[in-house]
Amino acid sequence: MTYNEKWTIGELLASEAAAAIVAKHLPEFVSAPAFKMASMHTLDQLAAIPQVSLPQERLEGLKAELAGITLAPVPAAAISAEAVSAPGDSLSLQGKVAIVTGAAGGIGRASALKLAARGAKVTVVDFNEEAGKETLRLIQANGGEGIYVKADVSNSADVQHFIQRTMDAYGKLDVLFNNAGIIQKFSLLQDIEEDHYDRILNVNLKGVFLGMKYALKIMDEQGYGAIINTASTTGVRAEHSLAAYTASKHGIVGMTKGAALEYVKRGIRVNAICPGGVATGITASVPQQLQESGYVPEEFPNMRMGRYAEPEELAEMVAFLASDASSYMTGSIVLVDGGLTL
Ligand SMILES: NC(=O)c1ccc[n+]([C@@H]2O[C@H](COP(=O)([O-])OP(=O)(O)OC[C@H]3O[C@@H](n4cnc5c(N)ncnc54)[C@H](O)[C@@H]3O)[C@@H](O)[C@H]2O)c1
Repeated sequence: MTYNEKWTIGELLASEAAAAIVAKHLPEFVSAPAFKMASMHTLDQLAAIPQVSLPQERLEGLKAELAGITLAPVPAAAISAEAVSAPGDSLSLQGKVAIVTGAAGGIGRASALKLAARGAKVTVVDFNEEAGKETLRLIQANGGEGIYVKADVSNSADVQHFIQRTMDAYGKLDVLFNNAGIIQKFSLLQDIEEDHYDRILNVNLKGVFLGMKYALKIMDEQGYGAIINTASTTGVRAEHSLAAYTASKHGIVGMTKGAALEYVKRGIRVNAICPGGVATGITASVPQQLQESGYVPEEFPNMRMGRYAEPEELAEMVAFLASDASSYMTGSIVLVDGGLTL
C-alpha cells in the first residue's frame, strides 16, 4: 500500500523505511513530547498544533518523499481472540451479565469485546447507533453474546431503559461499566460557556450517578454486583485548561468512594479506573480542537512512556475489576496511566 495523507504517525513509525524518512526530515521533532503524543494523528494534524510550529515547506518535503514508498498494510483492529476462560478461573466472566456505556468506540468498545471474550453477555450502550451496533457485531463475530441499546447516559429515562432492557434480556445484572464521557473544549475557566459546563457535568458525572442509581437498586436486591466507573488522571489531579472536565472526574472519584462505602457490606463492589492518555476519539480530536479555537494551553501532559495507551490496555483492568479475581477491591481508584501522574 502506498503512503497517503490518512496514515497516522504511529503507522509511519511502525514502518522502518517511513520512520527513517520521518527522522531525516524532522530530526528535532521525533524526540519531542508533542510528537510522541501524536502517534494516532496524521502529519497534517500534527502540523496543526500551534506549539509544533512545523513549516509548511518541510511538511510538504516530507510528504513528497513518503509518497514514493510502499508500506505494509496495517492489520485491522484486532478483535481479541482469547479463549473464553473456564468457569473455575477467577478471571472468568462466564455466566455474568454486563452493561458497558460509551461502548461504540475507544475504551468502551475494547472493554465490551474483552468482557464478552471472557464469557459475559454484554449490553452495548451508546448514543452513536451505527458504531454501537458495530461493537455488537464484533462481539458476535467473536462468538460472544449481547444486545445494543441506544441511550444518552445523561438522560434518566434512557438509563432506566437500558437497564430494563438488560433485565428483560438476561434477568440479572452483574457488572456495570459507566464509561461514556466527553472532553471539554480547552480554555481557561473564565471562558467556559455555562451550557458547555452543564453538558460536561451532565454526561460525565450525572451519567455515572444515574447509571449507579438504577443499577444499585437491582444489585442491592440481588445482593451482588460490580461497578466500574471511568474517571481519569484528572480525577486525582488537575489538567491545564480542563477545569470543568477535571471537576467532573474528581466528582466520579468521590461518588465511587461514597457508593463503595455504602455498599461494602451488601455484596457490591464499586471501583474507578483513571486512564491517562489513551489512543481514542477523544485524544484524536485535540489537535483539531486547538487549531479551531486558536487556544494553546500552557502545558501538555507528558506521556512518560512516550506513547498513549491502547484501549485494550484499559480493558484488561476493566475485565479484572469486573471479575471475582478483584474480590477484595472496592473504593479503589486505579491509575492506568503509564506513569503520567508520577
Ligand atoms: N482517551 C483518553 O485519553 C482518556 C483519558 C482519561 C479518561 N478518559 C475517559 O474514558 C472514557 C471513554 O472515552 P474514550 O477515550 O474511549 O473516548 P471515545 O470518544 O472513543 O469514547 C466515548 C464514547 O462515549 C460515547 N458517548 C459520549 N457521550 C455519550 C452520552 N451522553 N451517552 C451515550 N454515549 C455517549 C461516544 O459516542 C463514544 O462512543 C470517557 O469517560 C473519557 O473521559 C479517556
